[in-house]
Amino acid sequence: MAAPSNLNEYEALARESLSPVVYDYYAGGADDEVTLGENLRAWRRIRLRPRLLVDVSRIDPAITLFGRALSMPVLTAPCSFNALAHPDGECAVARAAEASGILQIVSMTANKSLEEIAASSRGHRWLQLICFRDREITRDLVRRAEAAGCSALCVTVDQPLFGRRERDIRNAFSLPPGLTMKNLEPYAAERLSSDDPSAMGKFVEDMFDSSFTWEVIAWLRSVTKLPVVVKGVLTAEGARFAVEHGAAGLVVSNHGGRQLDTVPATCEALPEVVDAVKGKADVLVDGGIRRGTDVLKALAMGARAVVVGRPYLWGLAVDGEAGVRRVLELLRREIVLAMGLAGRPTIGGIDRTVIL
Ligand code: FNR
Repeated sequence: MAAPSNLNEYEALARESLSPVVYDYYAGGADDEVTLGENLRAWRRIRLRPRLLVDVSRIDPAITLFGRALSMPVLTAPCSFNALAHPDGECAVARAAEASGILQIVSMTANKSLEEIAASSRGHRWLQLICFRDREITRDLVRRAEAAGCSALCVTVDQPLFGRRERDIRNAFSLPPGLTMKNLEPYAAERLSSDDPSAMGKFVEDMFDSSFTWEVIAWLRSVTKLPVVVKGVLTAEGARFAVEHGAAGLVVSNHGGRQLDTVPATCEALPEVVDAVKGKADVLVDGGIRRGTDVLKALAMGARAVVVGRPYLWGLAVDGEAGVRRVLELLRREIVLAMGLAGRPTIGGIDRTVIL
């Protein structure tokens, strides 16, 4: 196949190089995958309204997020197990994000440790985490995130229990020998000494705290000065709670359709959340972003930036760090073109009037 010319073609190419089990793990969603499909379709249903005869000889997609300059309003999503796509895993993504001038959200369940990622790139990063039953583990992860130069914490709130991903059940998915959740190794030494390949997964399920409530946001704020971003909000109620408990940012997300199936597409939930937040926190959105026009629509609906998951995994599978760079470059070109054709050459000029 010729070099992919868009993010969807990267998926097609990655599918050829990945084992079907790993492809399914990355691509799949929960239950009937209704939300997974709607995430993609909903962005496409929105129509753009171009402004005509505007000087678009200079187009600037750069933004500032929590005081950090980003070359475009895009972050890479926290996706576990990047090393299934390429041995350099999250370190390759970190280098590509740095080269592209954007920010990487590192998954707590990455295959590379925060320390390895920090040593491999000087780019901007946040740590995504889920609260553990043993708060001392969470406190230690926060300390390590600070030491590794993370500039925010992203708490995932849509995973109190694991969604039912039937592709993974059918495939009996587990991490192959040699790969682990590196960040959690210090807390699971005994469990990992067992020969059972699913030991780490069981450790995580046992240690995750399915009883935690909004109080955890206040607790996190009491143990760190880093801004706390709440990931997984889909309703006005969730948005209000997040803001009341001191979240500096929110990610409108349904976990890429991997948790509660038949929740709304993120693009459908975004306006409700933006209205409820009333500018008191930065709103980001993820789920199904594949085109520059999707990014333009998200910004028009009040998002400050978008978060992209699977596309960078496809780039990583196709060509490691260079593949991720190329995916991000394709997206940047599409964003710039969409801004230009819509007659909105600056990020500040993108408002609700861009969409029908
Ligand atoms: C995820 N996602 C995720 N989210 C999170 O908070 N922590 C995690 O460890 C993971 N792991 C993970 C693995 C894989 C393989 C995927 C595809 C997704 C969800 C992710 O952060 C993001 O919300 C979605 O991927 C966004 O949707 P798109 O861009 O993949 O459509």
